[in-house]
Amino acid sequence: MYPLRRNRRLRASETIRSMVRETIISPNDFLVPLFVVEGKGVREEIPSMPNYYRYSLDVLHKEVKELWNMGLKSVLLFVKVPEALKDNEGTEALNSNGLMQRAIKTVKNAVPDMLVMTDVALDPYSIYGHDGIIDQGEILNDETVDVLAAMSVSHAEAGADFVAPSDMMDGRILSIREALEDEGFYNTGIMSYSAKYASAFYGPFRDALDSAPVDAKNIPKDKSTYQMDPANRDEALRETEMDIDEGADIVMVKPGLCYLDIVREIRNEVEVPVAVYQVSGEYAMIKAASERGWLDHDAAMMEQLIAIKRAGAHIIASYFAKDVVKLIS
Ligand code: PBG
Repeated sequence: MYPLRRNRRLRASETIRSMVRETIISPNDFLVPLFVVEGKGVREEIPSMPNYYRYSLDVLHKEVKELWNMGLKSVLLFVKVPEALKDNEGTEALNSNGLMQRAIKTVKNAVPDMLVMTDVALDPYSIYGHDGIIDQGEILNDETVDVLAAMSVSHAEAGADFVAPSDMMDGRILSIREALEDEGFYNTGIMSYSAKYASAFYGPFRDALDSAPVDAKNIPKDKSTYQMDPANRDEALRETEMDIDEGADIVMVKPGLCYLDIVREIRNEVEVPVAVYQVSGEYAMIKAASERGWLDHDAAMMEQLIAIKRAGAHIIASYFAKDVVKLIS
């Protein structure tokens, strides 16, 4: 009771504040998303993601060396697939010499100890920009899951350490786990996007990969028949528990900032590591506001990342990873 307890004593100087600080951000917290394109010497800035780039494989090689030297030890790979290779079934995703498969090998070649996680979903390969095969306006679940399982095996064959299914089809974790076991990839892990919401904050990412749902007759305009309704909380726990039962090693909540209640709830309930994806729209907002001088870039970035970790994230996928490491080192 006051004055026996004056809380400001523990805030009086940076020395005491740093001693009692509960949440510390370090390079070990981060998973770095990387966008890969065909070509040579390509380093294209993504217009809606300032200071974030798509890399061709030769530039990717240099980039992962730089990340490793900065203390960033895991990457999450995404590919931008040439339009001519897209179809409804994601056929190109299974090409053992496809861009993703070559990207995995490029990273492992550059830095053998770099942890490589891969995005497993059909949208970059789909002519319709959806995460599943479409038949008469419906996103087919089980047919899509078969492709995701084969895609996961293909990534494991190329050398991926973890596959990260981001599609939200039902039952995909079990099918992927079984397919990996059948092929002898018992050490390949699964990071499941377990509570992934149908969010407006994925816009810049879809620019980066040219993967937005197309506007056409009989094609769903958004992903709300498979990604979760932002209004739901209990459902997030149900989705996450099912993924763990089906064999997920790591579970994920996505996006970050709008869903920190979900992060804490899941962290309290489950006993596997929890990842949070601070998505492209969250990145773009801070970049845009700070370019206008309306927010302090570094302070806003750190506050959001600390909030994500404080809410319960063991792992944070973030486009700010390099910015943060430069700032704190
Ligand atoms: C696609 C996928 C998306 C993201 C990661 N994987 C977009 C989507 O679901 O439409 C979004 C990441 C971001 O916005 O940073 N399966």
